[in-house]
Amino acid sequence: MTHAAITGWGKCLPPAVLTNADLATFLDTSDEWITTRTGIRERRISHVGLGELADVAAHRALAAAGRDPADIELIVFGTTSYEDQAPNQASGLQQRLGAMRAASMDVNTACTSFLYAWSTANAMVRSGVVRNALVVGGEVISRFMDWSNRNVSVLFGDGCAAIVIEAVEEEQGLLAEKLGCDVAGRDALVIHGMGARYADLQRRYGQTEWVFEGQEIFKRAVLGMGQAAADVLARRGLAAGDVDLVIPHQANLRIIEAVARRVDIPMERVFVNVQRYGNMSAGTVPIALVEALEEGRVKPGATLLMPAFGAGLTWCAHLARWGERIVPLGTSEAALPPAPHSALEMVREQIARRERAAG
Ligand code: UT7
Repeated sequence: MTHAAITGWGKCLPPAVLTNADLATFLDTSDEWITTRTGIRERRISHVGLGELADVAAHRALAAAGRDPADIELIVFGTTSYEDQAPNQASGLQQRLGAMRAASMDVNTACTSFLYAWSTANAMVRSGVVRNALVVGGEVISRFMDWSNRNVSVLFGDGCAAIVIEAVEEEQGLLAEKLGCDVAGRDALVIHGMGARYADLQRRYGQTEWVFEGQEIFKRAVLGMGQAAADVLARRGLAAGDVDLVIPHQANLRIIEAVARRVDIPMERVFVNVQRYGNMSAGTVPIALVEALEEGRVKPGATLLMPAFGAGLTWCAHLARWGERIVPLGTSEAALPPAPHSALEMVREQIARRERAAG
């Protein structure tokens, strides 16, 4: 039977760092509140578009897999903050890479978009539609942020990462997936100002207003992720002790700890980087996966558990088996241009632009 092994991985983090202290210069908040409630200490603000972040991440993933862009047969891009609705984000990446043989599609399930994109690509590789795929997860959510709302603007950041999956005969890659959507909680997280619904209204596109019921999302997230994680383990007849590393969606340290308690896996076997980047939505799981590899936390043959949730409220868990190779086959020279402004300067400029647009 055909499986879809992960053969390449790469990330791209924009360099400009926005600290909790930076946020406290224009919001009624504090480092103490943000750190104790979320675990987040800083996040990145991108000076380039999502296409440029994805281009660098993809080049690094392709180099790690020893693949040329021309080899790639499918690009699936998981994101919520695409630069254009038509043509899609994936074809923009295809064009940048010159991956002329690829088919390209976007998947939008908010923060779970990378994992849903991986499921989509995995199914196509395993069923023989394509032999390989580039799967991307990333966001430049800062462009859609309502910086006047302290309930949300302290939580999110920008970033992108990609993996390459390829058909193999050994059992590697995804072992089990559980996907779902807690639609009773759909209204708990809504970003007004990000869709066609707003085209005819006075509100300018991108002039967002976030509906965000933090505690409601928190409860449903822990439930959904916990159930999905238990489900994938049961499907494979595995116990919590069989999981080598949990790489969860990184929205809030307290959510990660609650899910770990639910699935009965100690925090030493949970990868956490939310303190450095905040919630990068579709970017969180792939970036955490790349960093877990870079830090030597993924061993050859490791069993990985990846639970996530996002607006919708979509939830899922993916169980994967890593192959023998944990080092990249090659590296890429691809890099972002330096950021001409600090993160705080960029955010202040966005605030000023919104104020001008609001008249
Ligand atoms: O990927 C999907 C993304 N969604 C999420 O990850 C959301 C999940 N939910 C959460 O992570 C948490 O619910 C939050 C971090 C959003 C909030 O934490 P909480 O412990 O549930 O706080 P709370 O909403 O109950 O707010 C407590 C207090 C409130 O003040 P009062 O009403 O007690 O006077 C808030 O107004 O904290 C206040 N508050 C803040 N204070 C300082 C809310 N945001 C801030 C802030 N700085 N940034």
